[in-house]
Amino acid sequence: MSKPTLSKVVIPAAGLGTRFLPFSKVIPKEMLPIVDKPALQYIAEEAVASGIKQMLLLTSRHKESMEDHFDLAFELEAILRERNKEEELKMLSQLSTLVSVASVRQQQPLGLGHAVLCAKPWVEGQPIGVMLPDDLLEAPTPCLQSLWECFGRFGFSKGVVALMEVPWEKTHQYGIVSVKPIDENVVRICEIVEKPKSNPPSNLAVIGRYVLPPCIFEKLETVGRGAGGEIQLTDALARMTEAPGLLGYLFRGRRFDTGDKLGFLEANVAFALKRPELKNAFLAYLRQTVEENAQ
Ligand code: UTP
Repeated sequence: MSKPTLSKVVIPAAGLGTRFLPFSKVIPKEMLPIVDKPALQYIAEEAVASGIKQMLLLTSRHKESMEDHFDLAFELEAILRERNKEEELKMLSQLSTLVSVASVRQQQPLGLGHAVLCAKPWVEGQPIGVMLPDDLLEAPTPCLQSLWECFGRFGFSKGVVALMEVPWEKTHQYGIVSVKPIDENVVRICEIVEKPKSNPPSNLAVIGRYVLPPCIFEKLETVGRGAGGEIQLTDALARMTEAPGLLGYLFRGRRFDTGDKLGFLEANVAFALKRPELKNAFLAYLRQTVEENAQ
């Protein structure tokens, strides 16, 4: 039998985005710009750089703009062609051929686990990547690719989640794990707790990248409602720790939580400073702003 490949990624994007109201009332928070690209495009680019060919968006009502963003813009492209806007045309053509996009509606926001479960018919019994669009990650090797390499190295059967240390006072906002080291970058997860109110087992948090074997769907189907009355992905992952096993990949790059106001602002500053056409003028503005606000 040939080795499995990672070709499909599921992107749960059906949440309410309450931290970004009123913006997120009619525009999905996944479409918030980081400089001039929606946050979701950075996620799609990481997926493609990791070998992904097909992307499933879990969406909800009023979120069609996410799919439109990756579609042909026939009229716009015709006008750009008439006006000889070659560079813009090239950019749009690269975007509409970046990745094959499908979507499934999660009709009610019953939780992240429920959103992933809605992807089951599309997945067809293969291992999948899951990427949370709020987490913008930067590393020399794309995080999803590192997770897939780890998935293969340990037999193509155990789940792999990305982990990162977070400040102890923020552990109540994350899925937190207790672990046993396997090698420099990989740990075995012994326990996983969703948003612990007290006594977190560590300050190692699950961040928004996963590679999961098909058995995740059986776990999600039987796990029932957990914290907040929602079907929690964390509860299904907890059931994987015994069999087939759950691994953690220690992500060592930079992470921005663009679903949070401060994280969104930080991402914009960091990504603007990476753009040669903006860097000097923006840096001068930041210096002046810091000086004016120092007193
Ligand atoms: P969050 O817990 O960050 O919730 O979901 P949210 O709705 O996006 O944002 P806030 O907290 O209200 O501001 C984590 C991820 O799971 C998806 C979200 O879209 C987000 O990518 N999700 C959550 C779903 O797809 N469906 C759900 O029912 C819940």
